[in-house]
Amino acid sequence: MAARFVSIALAFKRPDNTDTQMSEWTGVILAAGQGTRMKSDLPKTLHTVCGKPLIGHVVDVMQAAGAQRVVAVVSPSIAEMPELVDAVGKDVSIAIQPTALGTAHALECAREVVGPAQTIVVGAGDMALVKSDSILGLVQSHAESESVLSVLTATVGDPYGFGRIVRNEAGSVQAIVEEVDATPEQKLIHEMNTGLYCIDAPWCWGQLEQLEISSVGEKFLTDLVAPAASSGRATTAPVSEVTEALGVNTRIQLAEVEAAMRDRIRRRHMLAGVTIRDPETTYIDADVEIGRDTELLPGNHLRAGTRIGTGCEIGPNSILKDCSIGEGARVISSHIEGAEIGEGISVGPFSRIRPGTVIESGAYIGNFAEIKNSRVGSGTHVGHFSYVGDSELGRDVNIGAGTVTANFDGVNKHQTVIGDRVKIGSDSIIVPPVTIGDDANTGAGSVVNRDVAAGDTVIGVPAKPISQRKNRDSGDDSERG
Ligand code: UD1
Ligand code: CA
Repeated sequence: MAARFVSIALAFKRPDNTDTQMSEWTGVILAAGQGTRMKSDLPKTLHTVCGKPLIGHVVDVMQAAGAQRVVAVVSPSIAEMPELVDAVGKDVSIAIQPTALGTAHALECAREVVGPAQTIVVGAGDMALVKSDSILGLVQSHAESESVLSVLTATVGDPYGFGRIVRNEAGSVQAIVEEVDATPEQKLIHEMNTGLYCIDAPWCWGQLEQLEISSVGEKFLTDLVAPAASSGRATTAPVSEVTEALGVNTRIQLAEVEAAMRDRIRRRHMLAGVTIRDPETTYIDADVEIGRDTELLPGNHLRAGTRIGTGCEIGPNSILKDCSIGEGARVISSHIEGAEIGEGISVGPFSRIRPGTVIESGAYIGNFAEIKNSRVGSGTHVGHFSYVGDSELGRDVNIGAGTVTANFDGVNKHQTVIGDRVKIGSDSIIVPPVTIGDDANTGAGSVVNRDVAAGDTVIGVPAKPISQRKNRDSGDDSERG
């Protein structure tokens, strides 16, 4: 996905209609604010939207728009969190703002890490919905107008809480006024600051040093607009879609942004050939991949790391996470996490496939099966209420109803190995470590706590080969199970 956007960026058309590479720029993401309004122990930009931290979305869009480098400005406490690297990826450089003294101060703190870049695109770490074509439009307007500062703006019904774009009679941008400082007339302005700017870096570093502390004791990046405008070198560019302007300051806005993103994700998949029967009840995380002609029935949650092949039928009511589902598979009302499901397999209803499981093509998983950290061979059936854990199941095995691998002895987990064409009788309990050879059978209700040789049939509690039992039974009845 990212690669496709990048190639669009590189082929961006200038007005003279020649394909040229866009001028180089460095992305700077401001994410050192306290996020007080979230009322959270987790830093705001690490809160997730559609399975990905807010800041991760901003990194993605900057890279997709063609940033040469991305720098994230974070607080000292966020910098220490391992979640930060997971969220931004290892290609992003980190700058630290020791105390949150405002957006302009945050940018100043990035100066050394940004280095000699000529053009920077500065965005807030909470603007998860901004699109790469809006960033490209801003960078282009900035270059064409030879501005030192360009602001990405949006025109909305009620920009309450956002900075307003103040223009002169000629329509040129003059300043950004924050809600707290706005006059009653300025509060009526519908054009708002999205919090994303394209800036001439050398000009900016000089200005930041001179910037005054605002009414609330912070240095506001928005206060750079007035000096740029007074030298006639400020401009604006509009977002391509108003939802892009939704920032996240509260949990209410987090839910609004998530709803908008969810809608975008569903539309993208539908346009790519996925049938979604009931979009309202279909939840798809940001990086999920779904093949064409796959049908999503109502009530699915497709979480981060899910890859679904072509022509599958998922749902109703399935939860998939960090798993791959092969072409033509069906997953009916089931929960699959950390597993690989082969082509054409049917799972469910009401089964749970847990991490470390591989189900090979041609196997069948029915209802109320729980399978953990196991390989299930091709043609093998696990049809009815059973627990299979830490097991290797060969090809064409039949696991009878109610079978349990008792893999945990209270201290350690042990492995079960079952060969090809084995028939495990209903209600068998397998107490590993146990190996059951090819073509062996276990009788209904047997407790198998020793290895079973290939071709043998064992029965009873504990299970013994049927041949031995017959011999012994003729002399001693007491062993009869
Ligand atoms: C900001 C803009 C406002 C705009 C809105 C769009 C300013 C002064 N105001 O307001 O005009 O309409 O975004 O959503 O910029 N941050 C730091 N260090 C700090 C303070 C903030 O890194 O000391 C970061 C935050 O983590 C956040 C971003 O800067 O990601 C913006 O800060 P935030 O407090 O969310 O600004 P808003 O009040 O939303
Ligand atoms: Ca904000």
